[in-house]
Amino acid sequence: MSVLIKNGTIVTAENEFTADIYIQGESIHAIGENLEKEADEIVDAKGKYVLPGGVDQHVHFSFTYKGSKVRGFETSNAAAVGGTTTLIEFVNQVQGKGLVESIDEYRKTDADGIAMVDYSFHSVMTDPRPEVIEEIPKLAEAGYPTMKLFMAYKGMFFHADDDAILNALFKGKEAGITVMVHAENAEMIDVLTKKLISEGKTAPYYHAVSRPPVVEAEATRRAIYLAELADAPLYVVHVSAKEALEEIKQAYGRGQSVYGETCSHYLILDTDDLARPGFEGAKYVCSPALRTEEHRDALWEAVDKKWLNAISSDHCGFDYEHQKHMGFGEGNSFADIPNGAPSLQNRLNILWTYGVCEGKITKSRLVDLFATMPAKINGLSKKGQIAIGFDADIVIFDPDYTGTISAANNLEGVDYCPFEGFEQKGRAETVFLRGGKIVDGGKYIGQKGQGKFIAGEPYGYVYNK
Ligand code: URP
Ligand code: ZN
Ligand code: ZN
Ligand code: ZN
Repeated sequence: MSVLIKNGTIVTAENEFTADIYIQGESIHAIGENLEKEADEIVDAKGKYVLPGGVDQHVHFSFTYKGSKVRGFETSNAAAVGGTTTLIEFVNQVQGKGLVESIDEYRKTDADGIAMVDYSFHSVMTDPRPEVIEEIPKLAEAGYPTMKLFMAYKGMFFHADDDAILNALFKGKEAGITVMVHAENAEMIDVLTKKLISEGKTAPYYHAVSRPPVVEAEATRRAIYLAELADAPLYVVHVSAKEALEEIKQAYGRGQSVYGETCSHYLILDTDDLARPGFEGAKYVCSPALRTEEHRDALWEAVDKKWLNAISSDHCGFDYEHQKHMGFGEGNSFADIPNGAPSLQNRLNILWTYGVCEGKITKSRLVDLFATMPAKINGLSKKGQIAIGFDADIVIFDPDYTGTISAANNLEGVDYCPFEGFEQKGRAETVFLRGGKIVDGGKYIGQKGQGKFIAGEPYGYVYNK
């Protein structure tokens, strides 16, 4: 199969230009003005933007809370209609098993033959026995060169103490593994949560009170010092508080290789959403918690100025009716509400409508944050760029489309959307995954199992410094 995309405005992380793209098989073969090529399909992209398919490096398809699991890879077509063609999923190490083994098994049962876009994995070390620490470099050989540790969630099996993080940093560095942290001080949260509950403050809104910015800032700073001690790079996931951002900026300024991301919901939602009447606020319980407007403004500035390097979804498909309601009623509190919100489909819509259209970021910044940098950080060397030799993962974006974001036209398989009613400008009209058309006219037309595992390469972007 060959495809010729004509007359579109190509946007890269550096610039914009009008040119044709010739795709042969699964990759981009030529880019140029007025390409004279025979092709099986010719797509006229005049008046449209042509972007690289997005890389969402923070999704949860296996996250489980009190035995209840989120929606999985069978809903990954939601990413496709949102212009995302590669997902990176966090896989917990199963107790008693190895890191690589845990991902290999999950991959066979829950991703291969199911995923509708390409996928890769991060390891979550949950059982840091000495033999597991020794195993860390093997992740790189297996194509899983990134690992995450949860500083939050005291008492949960996946919570990591400082010794585990420090060992991961030392050992990971030997093989070019990028260590990522969920930075929140678990002890602070635990004390505040107990105090709030004892005072009868149990509504969803108190989730934010139980984990204020200082909780995130302290853990971010601590992780930075651990990384300094190990002389290893560090990547901080879902930065939400300006104080945490400040820690990252300062470390970077000292010459440390510290990078971070934020997520789409922190850019447009806030604590008012958590304070919605009744139990509605539960829809907005995620960690770190939603913040106030001043944090939102700081995050937009940070993504514009490259103080943060990627925007992920942190998609977590727990439904409202059953799963979020674990925190409802007699004897329950905000602490029983599963953390996370569904957001797989709307990352590009949010960045375009509230970033580009409102003048907060340029189109090239969007491309960098949405696709190019997440690919580089995770060692996906054929993803995230419109360039010769790269995978033909391409979004033809119609800037003239207008609509409203709603769970009603969402493929995430969840009964609510945290961005319900938000205006949407533009949309991914056509999406190619390795040269195959998977979205046409905004509708998913691909097939279950069409996505393929992409091995990450070690020494990702964070090692460049
Ligand atoms: O609240 C969130 N983000 N839930 C998903 C798990 C995590 O902490 O990333
Ligand atoms: Zn601990
Ligand atoms: Zn997290
Ligand atoms: Zn997450």
